[in-house]
Amino acid sequence: MIKKIPIEDLKAGMYVSALQKGGDVDMLSFMNSILIKDETEIKKLKSKGYLSACIVEDDPRTLPLKTPQKDRPASSGTEAERLPLETTGATSAGPPPVVESFAPYAAPVAKAVPSLAGDAVDFNEELRDAREVRDEAEELVRCFMESVRAGEEIETDRVNETVGKMVSSIFRNQDALTSLSRLKSFDDYTFAHSVNVCILSLTLGRHMGFSEEALHNLGVGAILHDIGKMLVPETILKKPGSLSDAEFREMKRHTELGGDMLRKTKDITDESRRVALHHHEKFDGSGYQDRLSGEDIHLFARIATVADVYDAMTSNRVYQKGMLPEAALKKMYLMRGTHFDPELVERLVRSLGIYPIGSFVELSTGELAVVRMPNHEHPLQPRVLIFSRKDKTPCEKRIEVDLKGEIGRWIIAARDPGPLKPVIDRIMAEAEGLSFAS
Ligand SMILES: [Fe+2]
Repeated sequence: MIKKIPIEDLKAGMYVSALQKGGDVDMLSFMNSILIKDETEIKKLKSKGYLSACIVEDDPRTLPLKTPQKDRPASSGTEAERLPLETTGATSAGPPPVVESFAPYAAPVAKAVPSLAGDAVDFNEELRDAREVRDEAEELVRCFMESVRAGEEIETDRVNETVGKMVSSIFRNQDALTSLSRLKSFDDYTFAHSVNVCILSLTLGRHMGFSEEALHNLGVGAILHDIGKMLVPETILKKPGSLSDAEFREMKRHTELGGDMLRKTKDITDESRRVALHHHEKFDGSGYQDRLSGEDIHLFARIATVADVYDAMTSNRVYQKGMLPEAALKKMYLMRGTHFDPELVERLVRSLGIYPIGSFVELSTGELAVVRMPNHEHPLQPRVLIFSRKDKTPCEKRIEVDLKGEIGRWIIAARDPGPLKPVIDRIMAEAEGLSFAS
């Protein structure tokens, strides 16, 4: 809850989301609210003429993760470094420890997977292979969706082969394939969405230390999660306006239809099938298919739910403009425990970063930049490519900066690229070594 207090009442340990000088409010975004560390900072704000502050009471980000971390360095330096998300996350040694309910899917110690902190293959090197795998996945989804619509069987061998390649890619480098989930260039939303839900589910599973086999079964379930929609009449599936109650009931049947179909499909595990059957269940029991709640919903289905909603929120649809990732993550964060497994929302934030790759951001210096690489340990301090100066004129040469090592330069907020979208796309394509035809 946001509460306005006089500057005299401000105390160390409070989170400030806005400051006021007379009638002017210097608004900081929710995600970027600042922790007041000591008296010196309060004196500094008073000397700048601020009269009141909006403080964040019960800031959810201050709640500790279920697995508290040890040996974290003390917060110091820039304001960005002192943000609450920086004090509750993963250690530099790798991902947060696996919590008890995830344990059955964790990689066995004897067959240790490459550390998340140090990927086996460099991001840029993996990106080329990841793009090929993504293209293959797009074609696969198109194919099996058309097969089901035509009453034919799914080619399970092909699904296993492609998902296997996606799992291998994400094991070689955790960010390369994940970064491609920002591509939403399909004409048909359902096809693009299935690929992205698979990528995001694998990202989460990888971040949770899943074994290769567990990741594979999760990925198969995720890429097939909406397969039942191909048995829903196209007139309902592609209806541009809102659905009537009867049509919505028909649409909701896609979970049951998908689950039934996968039960009859050879070489599909029960775990994969449950993703199709239960990805619309909610953590508080208010979802569908079987109104399951909490850990009664299979972990893979809970993961796919988070991936499904995040991709849906950030995608442009006929009837809605996609949200910025930061806004979607914030909204999902507030729905944790009701719609989502709270642990998984926190994992999503950590694995994607508050500002995922490709985000357009404004820096405290007034410069404009694109996020090039996430910082899993410090989600608010990614590596960025600065392309515009303080006066908003283009830089002669783009400057790649790791915000972790910067003093006095941090992200103020993510911005909607709007007409700058082609520029952002060009910068990312060039940074990733692709030829770019405008
Ligand atoms: Fe669905």
